[in-house]
Amino acid sequence: MSSAGLTSRRKADQWILSGRITVNGKPVNALGTTAFWGRDDIRVDGQKIPLPPQKVYLMLNKPFGTICSLNDPEGRPLVTDLIKDIPIRVYPVGRLDFDTLGLLLLTNDGEFAHRLTHPRFHVPKTYKVTVQGAISDEALKRLQTGITLNDGPAGRARTELINRNNEKSILRMTITQGKSRQVRRMLEEVGFTVIHLIRISFGTLQLGDLKIGHHRYLDSEELSKLKKMAGLA
Ligand code: URA
Repeated sequence: MSSAGLTSRRKADQWILSGRITVNGKPVNALGTTAFWGRDDIRVDGQKIPLPPQKVYLMLNKPFGTICSLNDPEGRPLVTDLIKDIPIRVYPVGRLDFDTLGLLLLTNDGEFAHRLTHPRFHVPKTYKVTVQGAISDEALKRLQTGITLNDGPAGRARTELINRNNEKSILRMTITQGKSRQVRRMLEEVGFTVIHLIRISFGTLQLGDLKIGHHRYLDSEELSKLKKMAGLA
């Protein structure tokens, strides 16, 4: 009932204990009774609960200082705290670091998420990367030709220099693997420190002008392009 967005878990327990729930016509008043949402006839005060939601797909502009897990022992803010208005449980597709911003896809479609994060599908992810100091041409070349990190090759990164001065340099980088902290480690490997990192595209999906901390559902065109990329259409 809480998954169906009807009430909180605690209140659902009270509904059960007060005999308001029936499953397949029989009153249920024991907590922990199993019933299958979508298969059994589950009612509250005689009203059928809505069918399980279909699959949902949304994108969030992840703010700095949020965690892409469903819980955090240190109590840091979670990306899912930002989508509390979505009545369905959704999961981040892959991860962005605590200090990375930008495009994060969330869904309850496990197969879709699995394919989009599997190395076999080589989904390109593009980042706007700010590094400290003026990046050298040699470092740019190394990123483009492919470097090896301590957990294996990082592959070639399509790298475009947007701006460079003595204080900082801004690049656009596209990678197709999803190694942990890959962009930061690649830059470290060529001698530079990332000071700001934002993901601006994921596969065919663009962050566009979605504001930091805001989310929206994908439109049908965005979804069908991504599904095609994942071999699901
Ligand atoms: N690369 C990183 O270093 N961090 C991210 O969050 C994503 C890619």
